[in-house]
Amino acid sequence: MTKSDLYAGIEAQLRALFAGERDLVANAANCSAVLYERLPEVNWVGFYFLRGEELVVGPFQGRPACIRIPLGSGVCGTAASNRRTTRVDDVHAFAGHIACDAASSSEIVVPLLKGERLLGVLDVDSPRRGRFDALDETGLERIAALFAEAVEPGPLIT
Ligand code: SME
Repeated sequence: MTKSDLYAGIEAQLRALFAGERDLVANAANCSAVLYERLPEVNWVGFYFLRGEELVVGPFQGRPACIRIPLGSGVCGTAASNRRTTRVDDVHAFAGHIACDAASSSEIVVPLLKGERLLGVLDVDSPRRGRFDALDETGLERIAALFAEAVEPGPLIT
C-alpha cells in the first residue's frame, strides 16, 4: 500500500468516526487510537491543547508524556507559536526538544487551527530517524484540518 493510500484510508475511517460527533476529547481519543494503530513505526501519537499560554496534554497513545509545554518550547511549542507544521528528522539535534520517551528519534507536530483559532497541536513520534516525509506532512495536515472542523471545543479550551 502506498503512503497516499494509507492516509486516504485513515481519513475515511476518521470521517466515519467523527460523523455526528463534536466532542473534542472523544474525537481526539479516537484519532490518536486510529493513527497509532495504522501508522507504521510510531511510538507516540497524541494531542496537546492550548490553555492560556501553554499546551496541556490531551488524549494520546504511547508512554506517559510531559503534561505542560509553554508556547515556544520544544517541538510542540514551536509548531504552536509559529502555527506551522514542524518536522524534525533527528530530535537529538533539535535545540530545546523535550524528551518524553527516550525511544523517540524523529517527530512531526501539526498545529490544529479552527479558522484563526489555535486549538493545540497533533504530535507524532517515531523511534526511527527521518521517519516523516512530505507525504506524512500532507496527510497529517489533512487529518488535523478534519479534526479541527469536526470538533466544537467549547469551554475546554480557554
Ligand atoms: N517532544 C515534544 C514533547 C512531547 S512528547 O514528544 C510526547 C516536544 O519537544 O515538544
